[in-house]
Amino acid sequence: MEVSKEIKVVKNYKGALSHNIFRIISQASEELELESYVIGGYVRDHILKRGAPKDIDIVAVGSGIELAKKVAEILPHKPKVQVFKNYGTAMLRAYEMEIEFVGARKESYRKDSRNPIVEDGSLDDDQNRRDFTINALALGLNENNFGNLLDPFDGIEDLDSKIIKTPLDPDLTYSDDPLRMLRAIRFATQLNFKIEKESLNSITRNKSRIKIISKERITEELHKIMLAEKPSKGFSLLHKTGLLAIVLPELTDLEGIDEIEGQKHKDNFWHTLEVVDNISKNTDDLWLRWAALLHDIGKAPTKKFHKKIGWTFHGHEFVGAKMVYKLFKRLRLPLNEKMKYVQKLVLMSSRPIAIVDNDVTDSAVRRLIFDAGEDIEDLMTLCEADITTKNPNRFKKYHNNFKVVRTKMKEVEERDHVRQFQPPVSGEEIMETFNIKPSREIGIIKETIKEAILEGEIPNEHQAARELMLKKGKELGLEVKVKL
Ligand code: CTP
Repeated sequence: MEVSKEIKVVKNYKGALSHNIFRIISQASEELELESYVIGGYVRDHILKRGAPKDIDIVAVGSGIELAKKVAEILPHKPKVQVFKNYGTAMLRAYEMEIEFVGARKESYRKDSRNPIVEDGSLDDDQNRRDFTINALALGLNENNFGNLLDPFDGIEDLDSKIIKTPLDPDLTYSDDPLRMLRAIRFATQLNFKIEKESLNSITRNKSRIKIISKERITEELHKIMLAEKPSKGFSLLHKTGLLAIVLPELTDLEGIDEIEGQKHKDNFWHTLEVVDNISKNTDDLWLRWAALLHDIGKAPTKKFHKKIGWTFHGHEFVGAKMVYKLFKRLRLPLNEKMKYVQKLVLMSSRPIAIVDNDVTDSAVRRLIFDAGEDIEDLMTLCEADITTKNPNRFKKYHNNFKVVRTKMKEVEERDHVRQFQPPVSGEEIMETFNIKPSREIGIIKETIKEAILEGEIPNEHQAARELMLKKGKELGLEVKVKL
């Protein structure tokens, strides 16, 4: 009788290890007589053909720090090894990549902290503690197993079927390290994968544990979601699991349609997600995408119903810009020019549409360019993304109107140069002409000139501006200094 023996087929991915660095790590591992593996994102992204890697994660069964030091010794450029003693990890840079070394470990977590109690462990233990099956794939780096795949949780199958799944019980994996809830959503968004049902339920159950995660790590994940091809996928998953209400309640407050006396307004939450997807087709700028996400947040606190005119959101741009500051502060986003940029776009987000609603006049366009300055293009990109009407006629009409505005903008800017407005008559010239010291009058004259240029009453030229200065000076009772 024939006995059928189960033969474990070992898949080999030598092709993933053609870079010189892997030979060097292999040599170092042999010299130290320890096992080492490349694990996580590098393997995953190689199989997904996701482009050049930035980091490589190496697990050593033994000391990761010793292995890093040995690798640095062998490398021709003798890089510095950064050692993180507390974590038992080390990092070096080679070939424009960051290479992280860690000793295989077993982790157990306490309820109130992200910091685990760590013990040395086997490769199995190490794979068990990883976040997702697709991130637990490891390739051997020793001579006897170079390129062999170790895939205890069928991560390859999950890569094929585009599934995000935890290696262990999801409640354990997510509760151990709640950042992983955001990582699951981030990977699902970046890779266009589905989160397995059990996992999704577990995230919903464990959502409040996100509170123990630092704001910096949360925003790092939000940025990655924001920079994906279709950020709405991530934001709707955040919403579905209840995480969004914890992390960005300003957005979930926008959800819902109110109806009074047959008058409705649109659902500003779902509208916002559409705007973010729209803008993402036209820009990879992280902060412009944030501006799109936040452009309507002032609508929740300003919403009012008036019997005659229906729903209004008066001043929502102003309120929204103020909320941007609070939100950035809370999430530890930078409170620098990036925040000011987002505030400015939120504040100005209705301006272009207000222009196209009326006749597009030169002076309205000139004022828009003047107020937006360098950010005018970004503002237009935001406003075009804001057109989410499902009515094809209206869609076409709005886009055509924006085309008119863009053409006008070009004409006006070529003629009047108000984008980087420099007053054609300086304060010094005014003081010199009227022989006066710094005073209120100078401000009045400068403002009069600026207004006249923006209104199109005079061209943005020195001669015309000087004439207006003399006229206004006279009105203010100033006398021209006579040169002797
Ligand atoms: N990891 C984990 N839990 C975390 C963070 C990371 O289990 N909270 C593990 C995963 O195995 C992951 C590896 O550590 O693949 C490396 O983490 P990281 O560099 O943050 O992510 P990558 O998977 O490399 O992906 P990306 O570079 O896109 O963030």
